[in-house]
This record gives sequence, structure tokens and C-alpha cells, in this order.
Amino acid sequence: MREGLLPEKNKKMDTKVIKIQAKGGALSSREEQALQEAGEVLRRGGLVAFPTETVYGLGGDALNPASSRKIYEAKGRPSDNPLIVHIARMEDLAPIVKEVPREARRIAEVFWPGPLTMILPKAPKVPYETTGGLETVAVRMPSHPVAQRLIIYGGGYVAAPSANLSGRPSPTAAKYVIEDMDGRINMIIDGGEGDIGLESTIVDLTVSPPQILRPGYITQEMLAQVLGQVSVDRTILEADSGQAPRAPGMKYRHYAPRGELTIISGSSEQVTAYINARTAQDRAAGHRVGVIGTDEVLTQYRADVIRSLGSRQDEDSIARHLYSILREFDDEKVTRIYSECFEATGLGQAIMNRLLKAAGHKLIALDGNREL
Ligand code: TXA
Ligand code: MG
Repeated sequence: MREGLLPEKNKKMDTKVIKIQAKGGALSSREEQALQEAGEVLRRGGLVAFPTETVYGLGGDALNPASSRKIYEAKGRPSDNPLIVHIARMEDLAPIVKEVPREARRIAEVFWPGPLTMILPKAPKVPYETTGGLETVAVRMPSHPVAQRLIIYGGGYVAAPSANLSGRPSPTAAKYVIEDMDGRINMIIDGGEGDIGLESTIVDLTVSPPQILRPGYITQEMLAQVLGQVSVDRTILEADSGQAPRAPGMKYRHYAPRGELTIISGSSEQVTAYINARTAQDRAAGHRVGVIGTDEVLTQYRADVIRSLGSRQDEDSIARHLYSILREFDDEKVTRIYSECFEATGLGQAIMNRLLKAAGHKLIALDGNREL
């Protein structure tokens, strides 16, 4: 048989892609209808990828164990890694948790809808397939208008991990979801590029004081203003604290680019000079080299592929562009990547958490200062 006549490998179903612009947050009647149809797919146990303000999610009915099993299969994700349940209305929280503690109400008032996930003891109606066997459930109320409508049309509870194949960077645009999920899920809603670009902050409210298990756009400082004391899981920035991270997903080597990534810290002169020297050596040894830099010094690099995360003055831009640049480097087939380093405070805590994970914690401190 000619190759073209063979069924495409791994292509199991036709994935419908629909575009929703939601201009100014408002949906046209055609868009509303399309989302109703997508909600119907969820209710029938199908999978729909959708935009949120953080990254694209891979949605299934959170209360249907078969849907959760399909999510793990589509992502190629270990099933002990629990899913986040997305809701769209505050009154939908109580039915899926044992109780709604006062702290949960307070942070919901300030940060929901938005990029914050809370861990609470689960109610019996949430299947263990969704919580990866845990007695707790992760809940988030996204602010993206398309996500909110889809959740309502889908029955109120949508389990959604990031819509990437396990081990790849979370998708910040529909084209990346299509790359990873075409043929594996029923539908992809293209709602343009994500606003934040990094996954939600996860805060565990089952411990006292509450603890951040994954840093994100809602920072430790912001949470502390509402909750008083907030601790941070030590494994977030440390390479070998000898402890397992408390969010099961954080133990996997996520966000790993195909090229070997090293982070370089120091003064900007030290960093650019060092990266250029290493690049020259690597190229002489036959490597194709990529650099992740910032606007301020970008013209100084000499490498095969040079990308800017934006200005150092604009942390939001750094967060928003990180994953797409890592994906681009995979496509560009670079075998060595050097990245500038960032201050791990505020939003920088989330940026450095993802960057260090992508680098397998390879950091070279030129000023001898390994403290982040
Ligand atoms: O921004 C986001 O949160 C995105 C969008 C789609 O909403 N979703 C997302 O999901 O990042 P995912 O599955 O890629 O990451 C969920 C993380 C994992 O690290 C998982 O281990 C942790 O949340 N998690 C979920 N339930 C948990 C629980 N009950 N206890 C501790 N960690 C939990
Ligand atoms: Mg993920």
C-alpha cells in the first residue's frame, strides 16, 4: 500500500476547530450558538479545548469519571496527577467541597474570577478519577468570557488541565493546541492568545497557614494581603530540597524544551559575554544555539535563533512569551539554549519556577550568587 493510503498514525477522530473572538467580552449570536454546541459535547462526555486568561485548557465534564479518563489519555498524562475543576458561578463551589472555609470566601471575593486555584477537601460527588485519587479537589473560576460560557453550557463543572501533551509547554495560543491535540479530542475553541501565559496560582487551603503549591499571576504578596500569612512550598524554586512537591503535577519534568536549556545569571554585561562565548564553542562543536533574551540587550547576542521575552521592565510580557518561545525553539531544532535570569519576586517567582523546571534547574551564576 502507498504510504498516503495508510491511516494517519495516532489520528483517532476529527477535531473540529471553531473561532470565537468575543470582542470586548461580548459574544455574537453565532458564537453563542457554537459554545452551546461545545457545551453539548462536554455533557455527552466529549473533550473540548478552550481559551482561559492563563493558558488553553483541555476540558471534560468534571463529574463524569469517563471524561476524566479520556483527558488523561488525550494528554498522555499519568492518572495520579489531579485535574483542576473549573466553575463559573460562586454558588457552584459548595456542592463539590466538604465546606467553604472563610478564607476561601475571602480570596474568592478578591481574586475570582481569575488566575487562582484553591485546594479544598472534596465532596463525594467529585469522582476520584478527577482528583487523581485524592480527598481534595482543586477549583478555579476563570475570568475569560469564552471559558465562563462554555462551563455553564457544559453543565457547570469542567475539569481542565493545560491543553498540551504531557511534558510540553502549556499552550498559549490555539495553534499550539492544534499541534498537540488534533485528532485526539472532539473540539478546539480558538479564542486568540492568552493574556497571562502562565498557569494559575495554586493555593492549598487545607493547611494552616495556606500554602502556595504553584506560583502564578496572583503572587504570594497579593494573597498575604488578604489572608495574612501564606507559606510557599519549598520545592517551587529549589532543585534538591529532598522533598516531594505537594502538587503532584509539579514533580514531573514539565515544560522541557528539546534543546538543553541553561539559565545564566549575573550583570547584563557578564551574561551577554558569557552566552556569546558559550555559543561560539557550542557552534564549533556542531550545535545549533538559541538564546532567550530581553529587549534591552537583544542586539548583542550572536546565535542561530535569538528571541526576546520583551522588556525587563515589563514582567507581564516576560510571562506571556515564555512558553511560545520554548515551543518555537523546539520547532527550530536548536540543541543548546541559553536564557537570561530574572528576579524571583512577585510575578518573577512564577517565571523563575517555570524557567528552572524547563532547565532541569541548570543555572550558572556568574556573580557567584546562587540565591534567587
Ligand atoms: O491556569 C491553569 O490552572 C490551567 C488552565 C487551563 O485553567 N490549568 C492547569 O492545569 O494548569 P494542569 O492540570 O496543567 O495543572 C494542575 C496542577 C497540577 O500540578 C496538579 O498536580 C495540581 O494542579 N493539583 C490539582 N489538584 C490538586 C490537589 N487536589 N492537590 C494538590 N495539587 C493539585
Ligand atoms: Mg499542565
